[in-house]
Amino acid sequence: MLDLLLKGARLPGELETRDIGIKDGMISEPEPEARHAIDLAGALVTPALVEPHIHLDAVLTEGEPRHNDTGSLFEGIAIWAERVKTLTVEDVKQRVRTVLRWQLANGVQFVRSHVDVCDPELKAVRALVELRQEIGDQMTLQLVAFPQQGIMSFDGGQDLMRRAIDLGVDVVGAIPHYELTREYGELSIKFAFDLAANKGLRVDIHCDETDDDQSRFVEVMAAETIRLGMGGRVTASHTTAMHSYNNAYAYRLINNLKRAQMHMVTNPLDNSTLQGRFDSYPIRRGHTRVKELLAAGINVCIGHDSVMDPWYPLGVADPLQAAFVLAHYGQMSGHGELRTLMDMITWNPASALGLEKYGLLPGCRADLCAFAAPSEMDAIRLIAPRKLVMRGGKIVARTEPEHTTVTWDDKEELVDFLKPAPKPAVPAL
Ligand code: FE2
Repeated sequence: MLDLLLKGARLPGELETRDIGIKDGMISEPEPEARHAIDLAGALVTPALVEPHIHLDAVLTEGEPRHNDTGSLFEGIAIWAERVKTLTVEDVKQRVRTVLRWQLANGVQFVRSHVDVCDPELKAVRALVELRQEIGDQMTLQLVAFPQQGIMSFDGGQDLMRRAIDLGVDVVGAIPHYELTREYGELSIKFAFDLAANKGLRVDIHCDETDDDQSRFVEVMAAETIRLGMGGRVTASHTTAMHSYNNAYAYRLINNLKRAQMHMVTNPLDNSTLQGRFDSYPIRRGHTRVKELLAAGINVCIGHDSVMDPWYPLGVADPLQAAFVLAHYGQMSGHGELRTLMDMITWNPASALGLEKYGLLPGCRADLCAFAAPSEMDAIRLIAPRKLVMRGGKIVARTEPEHTTVTWDDKEELVDFLKPAPKPAVPAL
């Protein structure tokens, strides 16, 4: 007998609803006999949302010690340098505990967080490693050793990267475009790949997050991935310079990224606000080539990047907000493209993180998210509340959507933001 039968779920890409069985925390074929049943009444159901790129150590520091008045990357870096001086392990843990709850309420259960290692005491790394232990299986956290000030250009940078790995970080990062020279940038990538290959870890590098069309480190990542046979285990994040490459170079590069089987993460919230700051009109979008990468068959994911930190003051840790922005900023408003946006916050990042037993098929773990919307398009359009979030078959979050009313012709009416179903044609007499 099933533990639970979810009735009337609408799965991505399907028109008809279907039932989902849950037994022993796993998805199972539906059966009529179940201890409990929940009627989802046509709600869209996806696997748990996956956050492939966030900086948890910086969340909720907006305004500390001062606000970013220009909104620029460089003022953000200056403010962060001041805030870092007061960082403590408990301060980091306290802020992250809050945001993990926000993420779970939004249906996010798998999170890859970059953690700044440019601190001789590695306080942020210690905090996140401890917190990962503390939360147990309530959520899954992957941690990336992220050298905010560079590996080759920061005193003791290589040693700090190694120490972070020894403390239990899962993924090796780098920031080659921020290093002092092109040569240092290449060396930092090679260092990160060698460290990851030796320890059997994945790689996720902040790469070419600039509008400089001469910033071309992602090609070095592709070459190292191919050389070391690390296809499928390497992610390039941001890669905004790709926006400004000439088409001939971009064509060759995208072919090599495909050959390397690399994953790509685009961060529309931060990069829509931070890029193009040195341009006069027309101002470039400064965004990686999402459509071309997808068309080449490369796995592209959406990341949130920041939640209320010196670089981005907004956000509620909801991947749907990032997908909504990419629909506009990346011109992905085609009907099929809106569906693809949902893949970019679920299956695509699950692949980048190497998650197992992920999905909606029998045998997958019952980590699910039901939206207060009947379709992918409506979920994005409404940034729909998450009706129900399940982890291992148990409900871990729920939102009861509030009713909205208007008074019209002196009568209070309920407002439904769904498009009314077409009225049946009047039969001919
Ligand atoms: Fe980032």
